[in-house]
Amino acid sequence: MSALTGGLRRNQDKLLSFARIFTTSAAPQIPPAEQAAAAAKGSHKEPLSREFQVYRWSPDNEGKPAYQSYNIDINACGPMMLDVLFKIKDEQDPALAFRRSCREGICGSCAMNIDGKNGLACLTKVDRDPKAVTKIAPLPHMFVIKDLVVDMSNFYAQYKSIQPYLKTKNKDFGLGEKEHLQSKADRAKLDGLYECILCACCSTACPSYWWNEDKYLGPAVLLQAYRWVIDSRDEFTKERLEQLDDAYKLYRCKTIMNCARVCPKGLNPGKAIAKIKQSIHADAAV
Ligand code: SF4
Ligand code: F3S
Ligand code: FES
Repeated sequence: MSALTGGLRRNQDKLLSFARIFTTSAAPQIPPAEQAAAAAKGSHKEPLSREFQVYRWSPDNEGKPAYQSYNIDINACGPMMLDVLFKIKDEQDPALAFRRSCREGICGSCAMNIDGKNGLACLTKVDRDPKAVTKIAPLPHMFVIKDLVVDMSNFYAQYKSIQPYLKTKNKDFGLGEKEHLQSKADRAKLDGLYECILCACCSTACPSYWWNEDKYLGPAVLLQAYRWVIDSRDEFTKERLEQLDDAYKLYRCKTIMNCARVCPKGLNPGKAIAKIKQSIHADAAV
């Protein structure tokens, strides 16, 4: 064996042993519905049946959308609405479509309308009143792809349009070459903005966005826009404000404040929008 192949072999062996440690020490991946069922089994609770009505529509069927009713034993299910959806999908209706990934309020993909309020299914607790009937629908005023899955293309295109990344004019800052330092006080200005997970709960709860979603950027994207306007390291503040200063893009916000009421991260997009307007006026006054 040559020195070169011997070296490669040793590296491979190291990698393999690392992979073995990594895979054997990691906890086995159990789907959340199974975890919930196992937990409920262990608890020996009496069955507690509850009705859930879920919006169903498929492009494969010619029928109109309709709510389908499912009865679920919530004592044999996890505590969150996402657990209920998993239980329906696993045990009653494998064709049910919904998005989810992290199941802990980080990815934003399980956003939907639950009993008339937008929210994340993984963070919304199941109402334990046996007489309650919970209605689960897709995010309002969005095109439905299937069941609870909506088309987010317009939302993402609007997000892209605000150039949601650091932009500098100083050529000394080559990509990845130097840190962009920021004072603690300037960093603190991003609090209440950077936490946004782009779930779209706020935008799809905003009546102005319902009527003008093609031209109004909506609370989520405007909050993100302000996140870059206020970032002390960004050198395109003026250009960003000029781009936002538009009767439709920004000024369709009529301070309705549904956005702040539904945000699952407790953010206030309405306030961020007001700050953009203030910044534009302050800029114009200079
Ligand atoms: Fe979701 Fe809140 Fe961000 Fe709106 S501001 S997209 S509701 S996390
Ligand atoms: Fe809509 Fe929020 Fe403005 S709900 S109108 S974006 S304050
Ligand atoms: Fe990720 Fe709910 S599954 S936020």
